[in-house]
Amino acid sequence: MKPKVYVELPRDFFHEDAVNMLSKVADTLFEPLSKEEFEEVIAESSAAIIGLKRIDENFLELAPKLKIVARFGVGYDNVDVEACTKRGIYVTITPNVLSDAVAEHTFALILSLTRRVIEADRYVRSEWAKGEKRFPLGVDLKGKTIGIIGCGRIGSQVARKAYGFEMKILYHDAVRNEEVEKRFDAKLVSLNELLRNSDIVTLHVPLTDATRGMIGEKELNLMKESAYLINTSRGPVVDQEALTRALKEGKIAGAGLDVFALEPIPLDDPLLKLDNVVLTPHIGSGTVETRRAMALKAAENVLYALKGKVPPDLVPEQREVFLKQT
Ligand code: GLV
Repeated sequence: MKPKVYVELPRDFFHEDAVNMLSKVADTLFEPLSKEEFEEVIAESSAAIIGLKRIDENFLELAPKLKIVARFGVGYDNVDVEACTKRGIYVTITPNVLSDAVAEHTFALILSLTRRVIEADRYVRSEWAKGEKRFPLGVDLKGKTIGIIGCGRIGSQVARKAYGFEMKILYHDAVRNEEVEKRFDAKLVSLNELLRNSDIVTLHVPLTDATRGMIGEKELNLMKESAYLINTSRGPVVDQEALTRALKEGKIAGAGLDVFALEPIPLDDPLLKLDNVVLTPHIGSGTVETRRAMALKAAENVLYALKGKVPPDLVPEQREVFLKQT
């Protein structure tokens, strides 16, 4: 009998090439499933490819045959890595393949704000032809300062693109990134210095105990009134209530958000009433090419685990543990 692979995505959202790759050796089962169907499937599954589902003791209890939790994405704050490690379950991510897509989406949000793209679209549809009101001006990116918080795989790609826009680049990270300094003239600064001096502040950190709520009222107060905050990382990195207040009170000019405290963000959330925000539904990596590459990477990791081999994209916390055993 073939091993089973549970995929927490609808069939249409997991690229056919990856399905074909898996189907040679496994039965692949997709969402949507009823609670009962899910429990039946996960009880028999040797591998789980997961999106943002919480993988904790409760989930693992239902999945006694599991060898690997392969995240379809790069953040793994929704996975209790320690609980997986204790049970000998690999945890993998899909690094590198999505960095450019997230960096591009970061710029989609930045340009939507600085060039008022969403407002302009509404204006064309309802007002332009009336000739009553001129459309307000945007602001240039050239010569402005971008502050990149977290300058790893994705942050570095944001720096590369910012350099193309002829922006000045500041970054803040626990680890120095000499490559972005050399190639894109980026400067490592303290968080406060970055917040005070940037026209665009953009977040590219994982969600950890250290980064949860790292942008709160105090940090927002340090930003320029003309500055924009961009978040394509994880919602809880920002204190969303403090951000909503800062936006209402004009403490900052606007925000571009792809991630939220709670997803989907409820329709009655006050953020949705504001005009100085551009909001997208957690689609940083959401391009055809990138989602295909992510699916192939997740499938590749699963195939390694099904063959009893250590998969290539283990989360850092597990590298020590599992690579030492081989
Ligand atoms: C998306 O949110 C990811 O973790 O890659």
